[in-house]
Amino acid sequence: MANNLLKGKRGIIFGALDENSIAWKTALKVKEEGGVFTLTNAPIAMRLGKINELAKECNAEVIPADATSEADLANLFTKSMEVLGGKIDFVLHSIGMSPNIRKEKPYGDLNYEWFQKTLDISALSFHKVLQTAEKLDALNEWASVLALSYIAAQRSYPDYTDMAQAKAMLESIARSYGARYAKLKKVRVNTISQSPTRTTAGSGISGFDVFFDFADMMSPLGNASAEDCAAYITVMFSDFTRMVTMQNLMHDGGFSSSGITEDIVERLSK
Ligand code: NAI
Repeated sequence: MANNLLKGKRGIIFGALDENSIAWKTALKVKEEGGVFTLTNAPIAMRLGKINELAKECNAEVIPADATSEADLANLFTKSMEVLGGKIDFVLHSIGMSPNIRKEKPYGDLNYEWFQKTLDISALSFHKVLQTAEKLDALNEWASVLALSYIAAQRSYPDYTDMAQAKAMLESIARSYGARYAKLKKVRVNTISQSPTRTTAGSGISGFDVFFDFADMMSPLGNASAEDCAAYITVMFSDFTRMVTMQNLMHDGGFSSSGITEDIVERLSK
């Protein structure tokens, strides 16, 4: 049931690769709630992905941008304001990639050039998005900017390797830029720490199925789905959460507050 939560709001959604992407589900939800937006992804991902299908469904323009390129980001914000007819009210950064994970490098044998790439794509790009928006004065007061994180920022997960550092940096950028942007323009900046989710980025991590099932058993509500995440993002874009900023918001069915659960006890007692 739609409530027009985002009626009159304009935004930019990064990272919709295919119908499993959290950004894809978010675009559909935001549209349902009355928001208008542009869609963006890295030029290479556009060739491989299906973003044009989504754009058609959402009546949205696609503007390619490599999120590590300041020039691409400046073009993205400028064009989005033109296309949407004004400044931006919400931004979703839904971007993650680690060449070390892709090439299955163990934590004791990381390639440092790739490590830098992981940080640049998955974390520093969030700073670049915010700094570009500030320089262009592209955001309205009370705009809401979100990035997606994972609990490996706080706890060790062997197969998450250098993405754990990227997520820690991402959450730190949300705090630091959140403080700055709140003072400048009442813009709020947060990260949402999402349950394991079956997407291209998620399933790329070795052992994904095991930690998906483990997290599901360790979460009293079970894992949060991509649709659940899209709904939470939509609320965070709305005016109902205006005083929430500089937070890392757990969206994990209770996983992060659980010590052990009955499901785990049952499983291990067998
Ligand atoms: P996805 O693979 O559908 O989305 C990742 C996106 O990042 C893709 O659209 C890809 O094209 C984009 N991307 C990669 N390099 C880029 C670049 N240089 N410039 C612009 N875009 C680029 O996977 P998913 O799961 O929807 O990922 C979205 C976010 O959610 C990521 O930050 C991910 O780390 C985070 N997340 C995912 C979880 C999961 O289990 N799937 C759990 C917690 C957080």
